Amino acid sequence: MSYTTFEARPLSGYIGAYITGANLKDEHNARMWDELNQAILEYKVIAIRGQRLSPGEHMAAVKHFGAPCFYPFAKGLADFPQMTPIIKESHEREAFGNDWHSDTPYLAEPPAYTTLYAIDTPLRGGDTLYCNTQAAYEELSPGAKKLINGVIGVFSAGLKHGRGGDRAAHFSKITTMPVTNSEHADRYESKHPIVRTHPQTGKKALYVSALHTLRLDEMTERESRPLINMLNDHQITPEFCCRVQWEPGQLTIWDNRCTMHHAVNDYHGNRREMLRLTARPEKPT
Ligand code: SIN
Repeated sequence: MSYTTFEARPLSGYIGAYITGANLKDEHNARMWDELNQAILEYKVIAIRGQRLSPGEHMAAVKHFGAPCFYPFAKGLADFPQMTPIIKESHEREAFGNDWHSDTPYLAEPPAYTTLYAIDTPLRGGDTLYCNTQAAYEELSPGAKKLINGVIGVFSAGLKHGRGGDRAAHFSKITTMPVTNSEHADRYESKHPIVRTHPQTGKKALYVSALHTLRLDEMTERESRPLINMLNDHQITPEFCCRVQWEPGQLTIWDNRCTMHHAVNDYHGNRREMLRLTARPEKPT
């Protein structure tokens, strides 16, 4: 699709585009907001470059995609409590989001969209990887699709299978970001279909990760894990992925209903600061 209010440069065969020429302060440019919504549907993750947004302008821009959501495990800004800083200082080793996931699937109504605005970026490294979980579903065999359609997953915030240990252990090593509430993470649990249908396109996508899907409903963790791990690994096949590089003033928006992402932690000794805001709570079906 071609756009009249900005240029879109695809990042890979299946997912992602850099957007240039859009001005997110242009509140009344209905055509641009409509085209940006179209571009998210087409590319699933769009990295809009060349912005200079205050938190208030970021908030105003995101309202064009849906109502803002709260993140339960980080303290928000005083004026905009739904907006959370994502910071890794140069002396820190642990990074937030450093494992494949879709955002907060342990909520009853996870956000359709996440937006991340870059304030300070390392000179190199600190990219974010994304995968297209719709393409991953489509590429499964008919037998695998039949096996998983209708299966319900139990999603937990506990990070029981995270690389950095459970949420309390992982967050205890994130020292400058205002993380909070991690001792109550196990209380955040929801059930959702592991194959979900996108409400705007009608297309099916995998909705399952080794990080957040604790088990499959009516099955033990031990019984569930091989299938969860296989589906997790299938989704992150390089052909379904793209890599977004950051620069200050870039606002990246992704659709959590048909993607997963992974923050690459390869910039020790450098600082990275982002502002994160999710939007449009929606029950997966
Ligand atoms: C996140 O997982 O929401 C943050 C990703 C990033 O910092 O690149």
